[in-house]
Amino acid sequence: MAVKKVINLAPITPMKELNTKEKYFNPFPIYEMFRKENPVRYDEERKCWDIFLYEDVDYVLKHHELFSSQQQRMVEGENLLRMDPPRHKQMRDLVNKAFTPREINNLAPRIKEITNQLLQDVMDKEEMKMIHDFAMPLPVIVIADLLGVPAEDREKFKEWSDILVKGVSENKPEAYEAVKHEQQNARDGLKEYLHRIVHVRRLDPKQDIISALLSSEVDGDKLTDSEILEFSMLLLAAGNETTTNLITNGVRLLTEIPSLQKQVTNDLSLVPTMVEEVLRFYPPVQAPSRIAIKDVELRGKTIREGDAVTAWVASANRDESKFPHANVFQADRKPNQHLTFGKGIHFCLGAPLARLEAKIAFEEMLSKCTNLQLKEGSLIERTPAPQMYGVVEYPVTFSVTSSL
Ligand code: HEM
Repeated sequence: MAVKKVINLAPITPMKELNTKEKYFNPFPIYEMFRKENPVRYDEERKCWDIFLYEDVDYVLKHHELFSSQQQRMVEGENLLRMDPPRHKQMRDLVNKAFTPREINNLAPRIKEITNQLLQDVMDKEEMKMIHDFAMPLPVIVIADLLGVPAEDREKFKEWSDILVKGVSENKPEAYEAVKHEQQNARDGLKEYLHRIVHVRRLDPKQDIISALLSSEVDGDKLTDSEILEFSMLLLAAGNETTTNLITNGVRLLTEIPSLQKQVTNDLSLVPTMVEEVLRFYPPVQAPSRIAIKDVELRGKTIREGDAVTAWVASANRDESKFPHANVFQADRKPNQHLTFGKGIHFCLGAPLARLEAKIAFEEMLSKCTNLQLKEGSLIERTPAPQMYGVVEYPVTFSVTSSL
């Protein structure tokens, strides 16, 4: 049975236990405390259940027949991420084709080209604003390519994607109203922009996702313009800030742990496992959310039908019962079954793409730059989205090892 789409603001509302900058940057001891003392708890303030243990987070994400994804934050429309079966399967089967590991691997030469161009632009200075110069444009240009929109508009894309995933700074009605207003404007701007592209592609199809979606059918019906727009907007919202955070969180770790930088620079074959460990250790998305479809018993607590549930993958990824020495970063960790891309039917569609972009980004960066360091005197701020784990900017300095 599907539930009526409910408004769930818990994921964009900061948790009171993480209300300082220090705690946001290092929430892991607090998650550990919850895992030990109160692994399934109801937060009266955010009106949701918080789930902290690996086994339970895995359970919630796997059981879509108990926990629905049909929910809304502020102003988003109907998209894949917020659908339940059977509609979810129909849509997912359709868009999956463009995101198979094989299709994505074909993008490798273009991703490498973009990566090297971005690095080339900062090599002489021997410093860069990691997000502005590198970690933001890379995924934005790749998605712009996939959708078939001009890469020159990337600043606009970045602005829109950031607003679409933004949360509130405090749990007050004025704060929600302000974000709602901003998100509505961003959606309107983006919709109008993409609408023009859909119109052009209908007349003149190309090799891009929008053209492919225009010609595809679900059960004999063509997708509506609105469905195509929603999916394109989801790609921007789901794929940009997450990948930007993955790359930047990896660079943070390389600068925080100098021995790691040495280890991986000396052996670039470690990059794929390092990327998985970055995903586990500093997950760009901290906690997907659900609505209970029926009453569910979990660790002696009863989650009632209609209750909001936040599944803390950032906590699950540090659960000692699953990961030995969970608080130690191990670039060669294997196995590494982190839950950062989710689990079950909503498992991240863009995971192969995010992994490939991060792999190429680190291989190229570490083969060209040594001694990556946080630029002295930099003040680091967190992203204004409580469900994400990332920083607003991360300036670094480095030395050049070889010419590009
Ligand atoms: C490091 C980067 C990324 C992370 C950490 C991430 C994380 C996630 C997570 C946790 C989910 C599941 C959410 C849930 O169960 O409610 C998800 C779903 C999704 N992601 Fe990603 N994502 C990343 C990159 C991308 C990229 C690059 C794209 C596309 C270009 C993308 C597109 C999607 C889509 C379309 C869904 C919805 C899938 C569905 O509902 O069936 N993601 N992602």
